[in-house]
Amino acid sequence: MPSSDPDPKLARPVSGRPFAGRHVLFGVTGGIAAYKAVLLVRMLTEAGADVQVVMTPAATRFVGPDTFAALTHHPVYSDVFERTDAVLHVRMAHRAEVAIVAPATANVLARLALGLADDLVTSALLEATCPLVVAPAMHTGMWQHPATQANVRVLRERDATIVGPGEGSLAAGDEGVGRMAEPEEILVAAIRALAERAERVADGAGGLAGRRILVTAGPTHEPIDPVRYLANRSTGKMGFTVATEAARRGAAVTLVTGPVALSDPAGVEVRRVETAEEMAGEVLARYGEVDAVVMAAAVADWRPSEVAASKLKKDAGPPVLELRTTTDILSSLGKAKEDQVLVGFAAETAEDPTAEGRRKLQEKSLDLLVANVVGREGTGFGSDSNRAAILSASGGDLPVRAWTKQELASAICDRLAAAFLARR
Ligand SMILES: Cc1cc2nc3c(=O)[nH]c(=O)nc-3n(C[C@H](O)[C@H](O)[C@H](O)COP(=O)(O)O)c2cc1C
Repeated sequence: MPSSDPDPKLARPVSGRPFAGRHVLFGVTGGIAAYKAVLLVRMLTEAGADVQVVMTPAATRFVGPDTFAALTHHPVYSDVFERTDAVLHVRMAHRAEVAIVAPATANVLARLALGLADDLVTSALLEATCPLVVAPAMHTGMWQHPATQANVRVLRERDATIVGPGEGSLAAGDEGVGRMAEPEEILVAAIRALAERAERVADGAGGLAGRRILVTAGPTHEPIDPVRYLANRSTGKMGFTVATEAARRGAAVTLVTGPVALSDPAGVEVRRVETAEEMAGEVLARYGEVDAVVMAAAVADWRPSEVAASKLKKDAGPPVLELRTTTDILSSLGKAKEDQVLVGFAAETAEDPTAEGRRKLQEKSLDLLVANVVGREGTGFGSDSNRAAILSASGGDLPVRAWTKQELASAICDRLAAAFLARR
């Protein structure tokens, strides 16, 4: 039963945001050091991570789930049968880019080594394929027991990063090995695990190292007067997720985005624009320098033909707006295409957008088209998930299904990598 003295320096935020936009699955198990997991979760969120905490039932005896929920802005679960509709352990596992177990009890080390899936933490970790960082914490006898040592060896052989334990004061007034590594040390191990994985992905299948990819995102705003504009419901989430994923796979990514409330993804050059014409200018100017364009932006189709120089007065009655068609950026790219891979998005309100999508794919000389179902709850604009089909000029269409935006971004990047390989 290890404990440790609170160390005020550990509460300070790490510099920079090395976890910006990264999804971290954080398992807390039943040891006294669970209180230090609170600090670590806070440091992760301050470093930009989107943290999903899962707890073993024993862990909830040490720290309240509400503490983690308040820090992460996500509900905290400890029961595999909670939210069966969402199949939590699978959803969380697929979303995670790195998993951390801190503190890790002797019990959970044994269950992980054996591949048991007898609670939410172990079920999610068995399904996850992301790097795993484990911070054991226990009394010296438990740590030094040959069974625990054998379990740790098994986990190391499977590529898990074991951080600590350190030596120091333990619970019940004892001293010795078994004290959980300090939160900063675990944080650094998680950063390293993420970086190593990015390198591996960049080198291997699905890698985009050395590729220059331009991604667009968000809506455009078409001004009516200095205070009013025409817009659409796009939030930019899809394009930002594609840009983040492509950068994670080693590509040099430029993101041209309309007005959105999202912060710049780490390692991505971001150009912020307002109107369709500004976006067209930025994209077309860069087209010759890139290997692929992913047009995830919902560019306005029309803009007011006149922009009033001063605010239109309400007393003058409703204005009659004359609209003009904006530049169709995707069609312009299709016409000017050399050997770039061109990916378009189409938002359709039909339940099956395949037929309309295929027409656009051909008409605009695209290599891939993501045909998105919009206008329904839980899909499309602003949502974390999409219903979409991926249509391909070279065959191998994926029919309409539900995707998280992360899954869809990964599938697009897989297709880009395959297209680059095919062109070699
Ligand atoms: C006060 C107290 C402190 C404990 N501290 C630890 C600990 O630090 N490490 C550990 O492996 N087990 C510790 N245990 C035992 C675990 O809680 C127990 O093995 C439990 O089954 C672990 O469940 P879990 O791995 O599902 O969280 C402690 C138990 C109590 C009552």
